[in-house]
Amino acid sequence: MKTVPFTFELAGPDFVPSTYDNHIQRRLSAMKGQYLDQAAYAAMLAEGDPLLYEVYELQRPTVAGELLHGISIVHPGLVGDEYNMTKGHFHEVLETGEIYYCLKGRGFMVMETPEGETAVEPLFPGRVLYVLPRWAHRSVNASLDEDLVTFFVYPGNAGHDYGTIEKQGFRKLVVAQDGEPAIVDNPRWGQP
Ligand SMILES: [Fe+2]
Repeated sequence: MKTVPFTFELAGPDFVPSTYDNHIQRRLSAMKGQYLDQAAYAAMLAEGDPLLYEVYELQRPTVAGELLHGISIVHPGLVGDEYNMTKGHFHEVLETGEIYYCLKGRGFMVMETPEGETAVEPLFPGRVLYVLPRWAHRSVNASLDEDLVTFFVYPGNAGHDYGTIEKQGFRKLVVAQDGEPAIVDNPRWGQP
């Protein structure tokens, strides 16, 4: 881990950082129970286990004062009518926020609070999104032919709570309707 100030580059077309410490790959099998169309999910999984998204992280100490940062790349595709997306999470330390900067593609950040407030914000190149503390967040790629690439920064002590979303899902879904993305209520929200 670096002990002096450092720089790196994020360059197109893929925006993979010129230096990184961790490369995480999440496949369809990691998304059990998250997609509305469970039959389509099972059918796809029987055919293989496609790569849905990747994260490149620069390692820093997981303590308050440090800033964890990296790149998220959500590949294009559909499971049933639902666009490819990340698992989504609350921060373990709920009172911590996050900043996303969209570098490439077209998509949405789906967000909600434990109290049931929801927000869905479009992402496109040049757009900055500030995710307030307490808001769970999930990136959705709403393009069928291009990656959604975002740069993210969040506090070193934030941690991740994936379990709550794995159990209940998000209240809002982004689905393809007549070839266009639409935001709809999740009829399975809260069901295991
Ligand atoms: Fe986060």
